[in-house]
Amino acid sequence: MTRVHADSALAASDPDLFHLIGEEQRRQRLGLELIASENYTSPAVMEAVGSILTNKYAEGYPGNRYYGGCEVVDRIEELARTRAKELFGAEHVNVQPHAGTQANMAAYFAVMDAGDTAMGMNLDQGGHLSHGKSINFSGRMYHFVPYGVKREEETIDYDEVAALAREHKPKVIVAGATAYPRIVDFARFREIADETGALLMVDMAHFAGLVAAGVHPTPVPYADIVTSTSHKTLRGPRSAFILCREQYAKAIDRAVFPGTQGGPLMHAVAGKAVAFREAMTPQFKAYGRQVVENARVLAEGLQRGGVRVVTGGTDTHLILADMSSKGLSGKRAERLLDQAGITVNKNTVPYDTRSAMITSGIRFGTPALTTRGMGQDEMRRIATWIVRVLDHPGDEAISAEVRATVEEFAAAYPVPGIAG
Ligand SMILES: Cc1ncc(COP(=O)(O)O)c(C=O)c1O
Repeated sequence: MTRVHADSALAASDPDLFHLIGEEQRRQRLGLELIASENYTSPAVMEAVGSILTNKYAEGYPGNRYYGGCEVVDRIEELARTRAKELFGAEHVNVQPHAGTQANMAAYFAVMDAGDTAMGMNLDQGGHLSHGKSINFSGRMYHFVPYGVKREEETIDYDEVAALAREHKPKVIVAGATAYPRIVDFARFREIADETGALLMVDMAHFAGLVAAGVHPTPVPYADIVTSTSHKTLRGPRSAFILCREQYAKAIDRAVFPGTQGGPLMHAVAGKAVAFREAMTPQFKAYGRQVVENARVLAEGLQRGGVRVVTGGTDTHLILADMSSKGLSGKRAERLLDQAGITVNKNTVPYDTRSAMITSGIRFGTPALTTRGMGQDEMRRIATWIVRVLDHPGDEAISAEVRATVEEFAAAYPVPGIAG
């Protein structure tokens, strides 16, 4: 039965949807969110994203729009731009990309022609779909040459990157990934790009919040173009932005609009402005430090429980764990953990013999739980629950017992924007 809430327009007009959002609130509050690309954004960000700014069309850029009535949204976009430039020390920023994939599309569009050669990290070893996967626009429009990690160390093989760049002479080299737990050597990538005449683009979607917090090296001084989402470690709204050197500013702006998008989502631009400001605070710096510390402790806990962690650890918010060390596939482990109230995603590990739909790995991340105020002690306990589930696949009683423990535990940590 759906209860009608006097203060909710949605409850009155669309009880079905209201009810479903309530169910999702319950899931987010009573579960342990360990998906590395997710976070809980602040009530202030949500207020901006849920505001009347969604009503406004604003094709173009501040001071140069294709619609009237843009005097207020011009100021909002300027605020977002100024804050992003200050936060990341960038020469130019575009805050209009709707999402990470669109930011990458615009970046490629700005500096490449269809059929040009680029290099990106192999998807099976940590890269993102939009870094040249054949089923994605990036792989269909451009000739992407993939690079990977060393079999033993499981870290990027920079000598291979250099050799491939010398051989293929790419226009763009993309660094940054979706499932790589170590710090990327931006200086080395810059060297390779300079030697081979390529542009260096860094996709910092995953670690942007760590860069903002000062707990991860910044790619900005090294890269010609930096793309990013705003909703992962950065904890903003679901959206994206592009930073670049002044010489690419015009090309980037033209590639976003009118090149690959129409009107900007001004409510999302406002949400980004709020998030950039939040990320400048001392509290956010402390948050970033805790995210990394939590990931380190969680990785140690998993290793103590007999789980093999790819590269032997992490420098970031992210852990890639090999489930073959527990005799499981990533798909099975994801389902087992889900049943116990622990949300993760399956992921290939380097040189995986299983397909992307099955995989041998699980990706864990600490941004969301750290936002709920959890620290090292909590990570140690969570690691033991994860290991307990993985050690007893198919044992319904243990799964139910862990789920009950998880729900009781999670309920004590508030989720921003969700009343307890
Ligand atoms: C490195 C990287 N780039 C881009 C994206 C794409 O972002 P979106 O899902 O917003 O398109 C992701 C998403 O996971 C990512 O990990």
